[in-house]
This record gives sequence, structure tokens and C-alpha cells, in this order.
Amino acid sequence: KRGGTDEQKRAAGESAADTVSDGIVVGLGTGSTTAYAIRELGRRVDAGLDIEGIPTSYQSRQLAREIGIPLTTLDDARPEVAIDGADQVAGGTLIKGGGAAHAREKLVDAAADRLLVVVDPTKEADVLDHPVPVEVLPDARRTVADAVADLGGDPQLRAAERKDGPVVTDNGNLVLDCDFGEIGDPATLASDLSALPGVLEHGLFVDLADEIHCGTADGVRVTRL
Ligand code: A5P
Repeated sequence: KRGGTDEQKRAAGESAADTVSDGIVVGLGTGSTTAYAIRELGRRVDAGLDIEGIPTSYQSRQLAREIGIPLTTLDDARPEVAIDGADQVAGGTLIKGGGAAHAREKLVDAAADRLLVVVDPTKEADVLDHPVPVEVLPDARRTVADAVADLGGDPQLRAAERKDGPVVTDNGNLVLDCDFGEIGDPATLASDLSALPGVLEHGLFVDLADEIHCGTADGVRVTRL
């Protein structure tokens, strides 16, 4: 389990879910904090809320199906809002991908008119320094790792926890966790990583967040950006 307490995560997730209004399409992020938002949306759907969800991972799709949130896709609808977690947040910029779902998360979060980020205080930073997950085509593992080292990073192939060998993403690719230390210029690093052949997506979400819902012991602090 990563991050803060379950109470903090629940408070943040429910706070974001409670802003969702009738008749809209909602991007459903991934992770333990977003799961609280999805469950709260499920309760509100039971109570009559009319929404459709666009999931960002196998895990979020299964959860949304179990609790009865009607689903759609980016082929058919555009989300008015997306709710998603983060591994670290500084201002409106995030590092995501702790669950290796960042490629579809970025697709859905960027397509949404507004992105609500749900975190706890352990995720907040002045300067981003969390390793950046980079999803790569399996054949690009070595070339991208070398290029990341040239950019000043230390790339580690993410190992699976309950299987021998590497994590394989929902898209069939590998993940390099790339430690750059303190990231002074996330926008430049983001475009440098995006430019590498074989990089499917990386976990830097530059200036995408519109609201941060941070669950604390004293309630939820909402920052509008
Ligand atoms: C999934 O790949 C990630 O981007 C998650 O959104 C992020 O790791 C936050 O997850 P938690 O809320 O479980 O910390």
C-alpha cells in the first residue's frame, strides 16, 4: 500500500466524486485513492445519478462494472471531468504510473475538460523528485534505458511482485522507473522523454490538473489551479 492513510484517501476520493453532476461523462482514474471516488460514484448512481464512466485500466473497469457505473469509451464520448490519483504532485504537475496505468490515464485525463486529482499529504511536494515511470515497447527497453541515462536518469526495469520477471502493462509493454533526482524543469523532461522512439508514454503530467483534493486529518483541502 502506498501513500497516506485509508481515511485520508477516502476523504479525498469522496470529495472529488461529490462534485460530479448529473448527465456527464467521467474519466475514472486508477489506484487506491481513485477507488474511493469510484465507489462513491457507484453509491450516487444507485441513488439515481445519471453518468457514464470511461475507465483508465483493467482494474478501474472491473470495479466500475461491479458497482454498476455505466461505461463508455473515448470512441463514443468525451469526459467533462476526470478523477485520478497521483504518486507525487507539485502545483498542477503530477507524477503518475505507480500502478503502470499512466498511458491510458494520460489519454483520458488530457481528454477531459477538467482533471480532479485525489491525493493525501504524503504525495505533495515543492519540487518533484519521484522516479518517473516510462512505459516502453518491449523491444525498446535497452535503447530507452540508455537514452534515459544520457538525460541524467537512472532507469530500473519494474519487476512484478507476484510473478517472476517484469511488470507487463495493460497494453503489453514494460515499465522503466527513471530516477532523475529533483526535476527542475518537468516540461522539458516530459518532451525529451516523449521524443524517444519506443516510449509509449511517461508518467509526467505537466500542468494537467485543475483541482487537487488532498485528504487530511482535518478534512479535505481543495486547491483550484
Ligand atoms: C496508476 O498507474 C497511478 O498513476 C495511480 O493513479 C497513482 O499511482 C496513485 O495511486 P494511489 O492512489 O494508490 O496512491
